[in-house]
Amino acid sequence: MCGIVGYIGEEQAAPILLDGLSKLEYRGYDSAGVAVYNGEEIQMVKSMGRLKVLNELTHDGAMLPGTVGIGHTRWATHGVPSDANAHPHLNKTGSIVVVHNGIIENYVKLKQQLTRRGYEFRSETDTEVVAHLLDYYYRGNPLEAITRLMHRLEGSYAFGIMFQDHPDEIYAVRKDSPLIVGHADTGSLIASDVPAVLKYTRSVYFIENGEIVRLTREGMQFYNIDEEEISKEPVTIAWDVNAAEKGGYEHFMLKEMYEQPKVVRDTFSPRLKNGDIVIEELGMTDQEIRDIGKLYIVACGSAYHTGMTCKYVFEGLARIPVEVDLASEFRYRNPILDEKTLVIIVSQSGETADSLAALREVKKRGIRVLGIVNVVGSSIAREADNVMYTWAGPEIAVATTKAYSTQLIAQYLLAMKFAKVRGEISQETLEVMLEDLERLPEQMEMLLSNKERIQRFANRYLAAKDVFFIGRGIDYAISMESSLKLKEISYIHSEAYAAGELKHGTISLIEDGTLVAAVLTQEDLFKKTMSNMVEVKTRGACVLAVTVVGNTEVEKNADYVIYIPKTNQYFTNSLAIIPLQLFAYYVSIGKGCDVDKPRNLAKSVTVE
Ligand code: M6R
Repeated sequence: MCGIVGYIGEEQAAPILLDGLSKLEYRGYDSAGVAVYNGEEIQMVKSMGRLKVLNELTHDGAMLPGTVGIGHTRWATHGVPSDANAHPHLNKTGSIVVVHNGIIENYVKLKQQLTRRGYEFRSETDTEVVAHLLDYYYRGNPLEAITRLMHRLEGSYAFGIMFQDHPDEIYAVRKDSPLIVGHADTGSLIASDVPAVLKYTRSVYFIENGEIVRLTREGMQFYNIDEEEISKEPVTIAWDVNAAEKGGYEHFMLKEMYEQPKVVRDTFSPRLKNGDIVIEELGMTDQEIRDIGKLYIVACGSAYHTGMTCKYVFEGLARIPVEVDLASEFRYRNPILDEKTLVIIVSQSGETADSLAALREVKKRGIRVLGIVNVVGSSIAREADNVMYTWAGPEIAVATTKAYSTQLIAQYLLAMKFAKVRGEISQETLEVMLEDLERLPEQMEMLLSNKERIQRFANRYLAAKDVFFIGRGIDYAISMESSLKLKEISYIHSEAYAAGELKHGTISLIEDGTLVAAVLTQEDLFKKTMSNMVEVKTRGACVLAVTVVGNTEVEKNADYVIYIPKTNQYFTNSLAIIPLQLFAYYVSIGKGCDVDKPRNLAKSVTVE
């Protein structure tokens, strides 16, 4: 939800800002803008539309001289996407400029007060109050104006701020929206996320709530809200610089799907030792694991779907009752938690506003929270009691694929570990399961190599109006993820249904030619889902079946069959999702959609 960047150094700022914004465009792409101090004044260019419009307007930054500047890519919250609402925003004289990620919740009240004081507003955004409020408080000392501003604001923010009469400084400040800063050989940078600075430095500082940074060409100083200087330690980012590039693939989503075998292996292999699972970062003794009375898995979107799958895995293997909650519901529903509860928050970005709020709610009650997070040093990673990282590397496409796959692996590892420690599975069973786990990357590769066949099938459904995904148990969870994948990138209406529920209403939607994807990977549920498949087939549906190799019986009732290799019944999601991701991808590109940046969406949902 919006990306901010800033640079001050020896080089021309605008090209660096535009390059940084290109790495953050996944956070929002309604409009973009940059402001650069050109030696005399702050020069600003902003425009509705994708970053490429801004690149064209500025000749890739060449027409903006100056070595200090800030930039923004927007996901609209307050005010439609337009040139006027695009960031940066200026005070009345154009001497103070601001970019913002987040939401100022009390902006209406502040706007009324500022209007009464004679300030005029040029946009409908909440952010513009910040530029005017800074103007109101500014008496030549940026730090003082910023801290006074912070006392007035409610909501979430990460700001990049420049003052024309302090042309050798950029200020950055944060509350509840991500912000990092780093110092490279040629200058200092701010950004909403690591990929924007990776090319220049791997050593970054994660800014905490209420902290302010003053960046200069030589380095940076950190302050608290009382204007006292504080010290911070940098974190070294291990991500490969090329990991955030397309690397010859047409789209990030395709590249990330192809990275799945590797990142899945990267996630499990460091945690497998001599036939055992060692998760040091879990920070729990065997007795504490035995004492767990209940698990909550709390997340949003696809991360929530991994929880839906792993509920079956934790309950089936470790016999621990599990509730899976959407973070946006959990945080407001006063859940019943006690000291025997372990809450697992799953998040790729580690910044999802609802997941973070759910975590804080749980911690307030003194309950242990484990984060399963991809982005190192993100808010959820820092605030959870313990964090288990998924080693997916930077994920750029809005539709998650590789992070989703690693979230499954992290939870399989936990479930097997818990099952073993609690005496629910033997060492022998564990070893057999680990062999299956270690085979997954190779099996995923095999499924990915089948992409042309799936593309041909997908091309037949570019005009589909509705698609249904059905399954039972884990297959229902796979259906939920497959349905989300298809709808978010192809804009085709799609629903996932527990196959047994069809007859309770949804089956009336089936017409001649409606595509129904039936997922049948669970041996004990195979016959049941087969019957549901037959029911929709009889009513005219075209059936795509995804099942395990050997289940040739489905061919009688399916129009098209995709076979996945044999694996442990709890791991089938990791394989069945591959062809269904490919299906969604090829429908999307067949329809000419912007697969990496689907309309109305942003990668990191940092507002609730
Ligand atoms: O960063 P998170 O894992 O917390 O994000 C959660 C969801 O926003 C995310 O999975 C979203 O549903 C994706 N667009 C799905 O592809």
